[in-house]
Order: sequence, then C-alpha cells, then structure tokens
Amino acid sequence: MKAVQIFEYSSNLGVSLVDIPKPIVNDAQILIKGEYAGVNPHTILAITGKVKIFDHYDFQVTLGNEISGVVVSVGNNVRNFQTGDRVYAMPPLDKMGTSSEYTAVDEQYVAKIPQKLSFKEAAAVPLSWLTTLQVFNVLSQKKGAKLFISGGTGGFGQIAVPYAVSHGMEVTISGAAEDGQLAKQLGANVFIDYKNPNYNRFKNYFDFVIDTRGVADLNQQFKLLKKLGHLISLNAGPNKRFSDRQQKNFTMKQKIIFQLSGIIFDGMATLQRKKYDFLYVEPS
Ligand SMILES: NC(=O)c1ccc[n+]([C@@H]2O[C@H](COP(=O)([O-])OP(=O)(O)OC[C@H]3O[C@@H](n4cnc5c(N)ncnc54)[C@H](OP(=O)(O)O)[C@@H]3O)[C@@H](O)[C@H]2O)c1
Repeated sequence: MKAVQIFEYSSNLGVSLVDIPKPIVNDAQILIKGEYAGVNPHTILAITGKVKIFDHYDFQVTLGNEISGVVVSVGNNVRNFQTGDRVYAMPPLDKMGTSSEYTAVDEQYVAKIPQKLSFKEAAAVPLSWLTTLQVFNVLSQKKGAKLFISGGTGGFGQIAVPYAVSHGMEVTISGAAEDGQLAKQLGANVFIDYKNPNYNRFKNYFDFVIDTRGVADLNQQFKLLKKLGHLISLNAGPNKRFSDRQQKNFTMKQKIIFQLSGIIFDGMATLQRKKYDFLYVEPS
C-alpha cells in the first residue's frame, strides 16, 4: 500500500511516498481503510523533530496522527466495532501512521463518526477535540468565566471556542484579521486582530487563558490574567505538574527535563500569583 513517510528529521519538511506492506491487526486492533488523514501543526513538529522530547520515532516512520475511514477488519477481542463502520481516530502520537491507505489502530482509540460529519470533516476532529476536552479538564471550566484563546481561529480554536461558549463562558480570541467573521460564527464574544492588538482594556481581566502561541507571547498573556487566574499552554513548555498528570509513562530523564524547563514558566506565574499548566494531547 502507499504511505507518506520520513526517514529522518528535516527542516525542509521533505516527505516520501513509498510502498509498504499493509498492516495486520493484532487481537485488540481495528484496520481502517483511510478516506482522509488530518494534517495539523503536530505533523510539522514531528517532521522537524521539535517534539523529540515527548515522542520517540524509529525511522522510517509513516506520518499522520488523525484518520477518518471505514473498518475493513477487526481483531479477535474487538467488541464495539464491525466491518463497514465509519470511524475516526487519533492514534498515540509516538505511533503515527494515518497518512497511508490502511492504518491499524487499537480499539480504545477509535470512535464512530457521527452521522452529520462527512469523512473530510471528521478527519479534522480527533486531535483538536481531544485537546479541547483535556484542556477543560485541567481548567475546571466555570459557567460565566472569562476566557482568552490566542490563535482561537485555528483548527484547535474552531472546536474549543464553540465548546467553551456552549458551557457558558465569555470567550475572547485573537486571530488573523480576515478570520473576524469566522470568529463570530464560532460564537466568540470578542475578536482581536493579532496584527493590530489592543490588549490594554483586558489587563488582569481573564480567569483563564489558553495559549497556542508559546514562549514569545507568554508574558503578554500572563498580563491578561486576573490574580489567581490560570493559563494553560499548548506550546510554551512542560513543567512538573504536566509530568505528574500525563498518563504516558515518561522516563526519569524526560521527567527531570520537564521539571527543570518548567521552573521558568511556574516562576513567571507565581511571581504574579497566577497558575501555569502545559498540555500535550493524549489519545483516548
Ligand atoms: N500541545 C498540544 O497537545 C497541542 C494540541 C493542539 C494544538 N497545539 C498547538 O497549538 C497551536 C495551534 O494549533 P491549531 O491546530 O489551532 O493551528 P492552526 O490551525 O495552524 O491555527 C493557528 C491560528 O493562529 C493564528 N495566528 C498566527 N499567528 C498568530 C498570532 N501572533 N497571534 C494570534 N493568532 C495567530 C493563525 O492565523 P494565520 O495563520 O491565518 O495568520 C491561525 O488562525 C499549534 O502551535 C499547535 O502545535 C498543541
């Protein structure tokens, strides 16, 4: 079967279309004939090696961490799926491989696609949806809370914003000027053009900030938070609470690196009597 692979990390984002054997499912797996594979910022981070600290890849590796398609066979112990089901999934990020004609995925990471979603739409859902659920688990969402999401018009925000609005939060997002209309459709209360921002009126305003931009914008985003406010970053860097919370079995070396790199982020937060967390989405 055809698959899109990389043989090493590269900064020029080079990929190869190769022929590899069709996967054989084990007892716990489902074989999905792919209709669409999602392409998201994680794909770029994986190719360039920027998520090396979290995930180890044995090259050559097939890319792709989101898939929508049809079940073509199931392992002996699979109970909840059968041939012909329309499904979508995000496999564990250290076991990518959805950019191929067939992908074998453990049953526990697969879900049926709701009727109203096309295959094309469904392939864009798993990573952003899981991120949204996991972010709001950490933030312990509150009705009426004021939330800021940087880059909220992107793939993550397009799921996180309607979710937060439907849970009664007041949502402000930043994004590209041409996405102002999209921000309205998503239900955001306020839209800030990131090229012409005026953050003054939002100083010490928000209960929660979801940072998708990372280190360069972190200081500015802490200023937007109220005292005792809570910022969760998808981009800046891990800390001790992150390594304690994640379900993946990180090595001692990884945990030490997370804890050391987190000192600076936790320090920034503590100085202002605010809280910092980091999230790296996990499969479910
Ligand atoms: N840690 C995790 O588990 C996790 C999970 C999901 C996402 N993420 C990260 O979160 C980030 C967003 O993901 P995504 O899927 O939403 O990406 P995306 O679809 O590429 O969206 C990014 C959005 O941010 C906008 N943007 C660019 N520069 C900006 C700035 N300076 N200020 C505000 N907005 C700006 C972009 O607008 P234009 O490009 O149109 O200018 C775009 O609308 C990525 O870095 C991704 O790696 C991490």
